[in-house]
Order: sequence, then structure tokens, then C-alpha cells
Amino acid sequence: MVDRDTLLDAARAVRAHAHAPYSRFMVGAAVLSESGRIFTGCNVENAAYPLGLCAEANAIGAMIAAGDRIIRAVAVVGGEPGDGRLCTPCGGCRQRIREFAAGGVPVHVGGPEGWRKSFSLCGLLPDSFGPENLNF
Ligand code: THU
Repeated sequence: MVDRDTLLDAARAVRAHAHAPYSRFMVGAAVLSESGRIFTGCNVENAAYPLGLCAEANAIGAMIAAGDRIIRAVAVVGGEPGDGRLCTPCGGCRQRIREFAAGGVPVHVGGPEGWRKSFSLCGLLPDSFGPENLNF
């Protein structure tokens, strides 16, 4: 079983590849899927600002492209050492995670130095709308 810190390490490693020249806020994300594999992504910004993609979106895209469909755990790393902030997934990415994850799935948030706080998906996105609402 992949543990919390292994997932955070994967998110921290991919964060180094972020393309964030506009915000200078680099983010890495890792998802653990039902096959036990880890998929990673970083934020990819664009000179046409609204086209930028979050790290979580790219990690989920990698998982889907590889054929997996269920998220068991998520890790997100961002920020600077000692900044005392949490790089929690943005609202849109909470919904993206929701598409493939049950409410109890853990979302681990870290900084460059390591783990900071863990949440459940349903804590981050209560009373959410998901595939079941459309009978999927
Ligand atoms: N960002 C992410 O990649 N994930 C999040 O959960 C929060 C924000 C990115 C988007 C943008 O490239 C930069 O961080 C600043 O918002």
C-alpha cells in the first residue's frame, strides 16, 4: 500500500516541472488509483491566462489516459517553507477529484518540507453533486 508520504513525495517531485511563470506558484499533485499506481501532474500556465491548468487536473488526466478510473488518495504540494498556508485544491479541482473518488478519500496537503494537513474529499466538498446524481 502506498502511504501518505510516498504520495506527497511524488507530488513534490513533479512540482519541480511546473510551468508557472505568471503566478510563480508551483504546484504538484499525485493521485493513487485503484491499480495501486501513482499518477502525477503539475500546473501548466499559459500566456492566455484562463487556459492555465491545475496540477490536479493534469494528474487526473494522466490516470485516465492510463486506463484507471478510481482515485484512492490524493496529495497536493505547493507554497514555500514556513509560509503557514495550505495548498488545498481549488473548487474546480475538488469537483474534478469528486468525479473519480468516494467522499472518504483522503486529500493530503503538503509544502516543500513535507506533510501539513489531511482532509477528506467530503470535508472539502460537502453535499456534492456527482455521477450518482445523473444515475451513473
Ligand atoms: N493551482 C493548482 O495547480 N492547484 C490548486 O489546487 C491551486 C492552484 C495553480 C493554478 C495556477 O497555476 C497557480 O496555482 C496559482 O493559482
